[in-house]
Amino acid sequence: PAPAVDSVVITADRMIDVLSGKVVERPVIVATGGRIVSVVGEGAARPVIPAGARRIDLPGRTLVPGLIDMHAHLTSNPKYGGYSGYQFTDSFWVAQGTGNAERTLRAGFTTVRNVGSDGYADVGIKQAIEEGWVAGPRIVPAAHALGATGGHCDETFLPPSFQRKSPAVGDSPEELRRRVREQRKYGAEVIKACATGGVFSRNTEPGVQQLHPEELKAIVDEAHFWKLKAAAHAHGADGIRAAIEAGFDTIEHVSFIDDAGIKAAKARGTFLGFDVYNTEYTLAEGEKNGVLPENIEKERRVGTIQRENFRKAAQAGARMIFSTDAGIYPHGDNARQFAVMVRFGLTPMQALQSATSNAAEALGRTGDVGAIAVGRYADIVAVAGDPLTDIRTLEKPVVVIKGGEVVAGATAS
Ligand code: ARG
Repeated sequence: PAPAVDSVVITADRMIDVLSGKVVERPVIVATGGRIVSVVGEGAARPVIPAGARRIDLPGRTLVPGLIDMHAHLTSNPKYGGYSGYQFTDSFWVAQGTGNAERTLRAGFTTVRNVGSDGYADVGIKQAIEEGWVAGPRIVPAAHALGATGGHCDETFLPPSFQRKSPAVGDSPEELRRRVREQRKYGAEVIKACATGGVFSRNTEPGVQQLHPEELKAIVDEAHFWKLKAAAHAHGADGIRAAIEAGFDTIEHVSFIDDAGIKAAKARGTFLGFDVYNTEYTLAEGEKNGVLPENIEKERRVGTIQRENFRKAAQAGARMIFSTDAGIYPHGDNARQFAVMVRFGLTPMQALQSATSNAAEALGRTGDVGAIAVGRYADIVAVAGDPLTDIRTLEKPVVVIKGGEVVAGATAS
């Protein structure tokens, strides 16, 4: 008969402890009911193994915590850029989004913050995953991203006779407070707002601020009042500084951040999520995927500067999170960003921490995700090589474990 509470013992050659920044040799991890109850390394007393525990033995492998992408759009698909997306019915996006969720999980991302989707699709996909109907990561949904009328997070592709507007636009502190409450009411667990223009909208400039300081502050205050974190899309230096001053917990994209912005982020402990991988994909595939020339032109203006500023922020010791904007590039390729982060100034350990311990902190979820540690979910990725010498081994996980269950790959035993 199955044990009353399901236990599992996971062993491997080594494990990266992102909390201490150290490598643990010959780890033995015990989890019960999906949560880690003990972690020991070589030389420590053997842990108590619950009767009937399953075994997952991963000889030769290195274990890292289940990865966290702080900026994904599971319902977006890079194949359908510009106007080509309008060929599909609304529910198409949810249906293919479930496939994207599975791809993301199989790539080692056991938690994803979804920072913007229509029709509460991210909330629905999360519910379907939790009910066990489809496979996917743990999702922290933002539902609709807030923003100004005509701003980056509004609907900007259709003429006025179509009367398209995002349900989450607001044009005063009061309206934006209400938008926060509406998103939360229907399942948002983080609030996303567009503080500046962006690359993939029409008639917006990435460098130009789109919400007033008092609007940004109203969004953050209302989110925090409801115990939610707030994430700001911000490319331009003014909008970045205003969002940091307003108290946003994370700044996304961060492309044109200036020295004052880096200083402010460090002083306030604001996390920065630079999506430094996707520029190659957009420049190589965008045109073929239907992305409009004006959007490709904006990408050209943003990508290179963003990487230089990432390097500056990294050198200054700013707190980094792993934010890819997957959906702009194919879901499942999320881990390709690690190599770019290392190329532009992070150590492999720092890059890994951006997607684990730092991410958990930025989510306010240090109790359950982001480390292989007692109390947290047994979300674990096994890789073949040593990520601390070759970060790209994270691009090819051999086994992915979520809540103590193998969800991708095969084990030796
Ligand atoms: N969603 C973002 C925007 O449209 C993507 C920016 C991508 N480009 C980049 N270099 N990070 O603004």
